[in-house]
Amino acid sequence: MKLVIVKDYAELSRKAAELLVSEVKANPKTVFGLATGGTPVGMYRELIKLSQAASIDFSQASSFNLDEYVGLSSTHPQSYRSYMQENLFNHINIPTEKTHVPVGNTTDHLAECARYEEAIRLAGGIDIQVLGIGNNGHIGFNEPGSPADSVTRVVKLTDSTIEANARYFDSVDHVPTQAVSMGINTILGAKKVVLLASGEAKAEAVRLMLEEEPTADVPASLLQLHRDVTVIVDQEAASKL
Ligand code: GLP
Repeated sequence: MKLVIVKDYAELSRKAAELLVSEVKANPKTVFGLATGGTPVGMYRELIKLSQAASIDFSQASSFNLDEYVGLSSTHPQSYRSYMQENLFNHINIPTEKTHVPVGNTTDHLAECARYEEAIRLAGGIDIQVLGIGNNGHIGFNEPGSPADSVTRVVKLTDSTIEANARYFDSVDHVPTQAVSMGINTILGAKKVVLLASGEAKAEAVRLMLEEEPTADVPASLLQLHRDVTVIVDQEAASKL
């Protein structure tokens, strides 16, 4: 895995946005794999700035998000669909119908998961997948124990993930306990992967991801099985390396 250590969150956000811009410039039909959470917010902000300043064209691009909470409608303020609309899609010229986020409030989750995998396949696969990392080493919502061959499915969130994400909800009791998430195998199917980590709270997860043998106990370490991964971390997240 290629490791890039930058000074701080601002530099991390700029670097990551520049990578995405160079991707869509080289291939206007880029299929992006996108992530939510606090970490990529700065990257999306930079991406919007760069796009507006240089008229970057996303009209032929498409995107697939990693995950969505089970039970939340797409218009729920805390849904990952709402997050993506607010933080990116409303501000660039990507056609809404080309942006994909798993549906969290369907009555048939099995069908939705199969449909999502198939949609990625029909799009020709993901060209560049952006990832954050959970404090426990999760990627997407692939919690510890997620095997390398897992695909899009309904997963149960761990208590530590529910607590970490409670800051976006009125209280911890409002955080959904399940999500639809791309699997590790889905993520490993992307042509390139870019993982972002910022802050001291991520330092141990970053160390385990890079320095331990690949194991389902630290899902991010399974990225060692991929041949084109760039890990961009700031100095705090790199402090245990
Ligand atoms: C959630 C998301 C992940 C994200 C993680 C870390 O669990 N499903 O995709 O990487 O949170 O989020 P943050 O960047 O806010 O620390």
